[in-house]
Amino acid sequence: MDVEALQREALAAVAAASSVDEIDVVRVDYLGRKSALKLALREVRDRETGIALNAARVTIEQAVESRTAELERAELDRRLTGEQVDVTLPVDAYRRGRLHLITQIRREVEDVFLGLGYRVVDGREVETTRYNFDGLNFPAGHPARSPLHSLFLDEQRVLRTETSPSQVRTMEAEQPPIYMVSLGRVYRRDTPDATHSPIFHQVEGLAVDEGITLGDLTGTLDFLLRALFGADRGTEFRTHYFPFTEPSIEAYVSCHVCDGAGCTVCRHSGWIEVGGAGMVDPAVFEFVGYDPERYTGFAFGWGLERIAMLRHEFPDLRELWRNDLRFTRQF
Ligand code: PHE
Repeated sequence: MDVEALQREALAAVAAASSVDEIDVVRVDYLGRKSALKLALREVRDRETGIALNAARVTIEQAVESRTAELERAELDRRLTGEQVDVTLPVDAYRRGRLHLITQIRREVEDVFLGLGYRVVDGREVETTRYNFDGLNFPAGHPARSPLHSLFLDEQRVLRTETSPSQVRTMEAEQPPIYMVSLGRVYRRDTPDATHSPIFHQVEGLAVDEGITLGDLTGTLDFLLRALFGADRGTEFRTHYFPFTEPSIEAYVSCHVCDGAGCTVCRHSGWIEVGGAGMVDPAVFEFVGYDPERYTGFAFGWGLERIAMLRHEFPDLRELWRNDLRFTRQF
């Protein structure tokens, strides 16, 4: 075998290799286990040939090694310049999640009342007729007691039709003074349409103390209405009826769309009805064992969906349940 010729050929191949991949091929061809050089080394019989072959091997190995290092450095340089990241380029805005509008309003209302020194108490969605009706002074035969209007689980248990049972539970468990709000889902046997849903949310409020008056109630609701609908809103209260309050009132806020001039949102009255309220009926105090001669109190119960619709002027509350992001992202 012509060792010199082989070495020349190998060095030429090394010099010609222009990438790390190519020099790898050269390495295998000239130094690999099946290369002519390695085969010859295995067969060698005399000292001279051994020395010559090993000298060639060392020369080729060194050439491969230094060429490999050179090519690796070149490739790294190319990548470092080619794959630059420009950290100053604008990126796509990261889309953050948000709270559902009803959750936002729920928290807003809670904040308003925490600021006034009220507590937030939990109620139960599965109630007994005792708390949902009896304690709230609903007479026998009241339509709300009928399975046509309310969702009963059995004779005694019903999905609460309002958050008002939380009043009875709170008063039964503690003595005045009581200042609490309770927010959550309520259930009624309604067919869904633009303004009805079998599940919706209410905020219940209750204040019981010595000397609480109707003026305290209207002042508190006034404060809440302005917090929800804007400081420049007018408020109005009209008489109404609920079994568990006497007198009962309904709260109105001046129409935020026409500012009282009359439009379709307020049905040309200039006023929008927000929800019910009243002074706690003495019959309720008697049910929970409070002395109605000593204590007076007020309560209110408003729908959060209704607040959302009025405030944001969308015509169909079913949007709140559809979870179409084009809708929910607006708030
Ligand atoms: N519970 C009544 C309703 O659902 C609202 C209300 C609550 C009225 C508290 C007066 C006092 O319509």
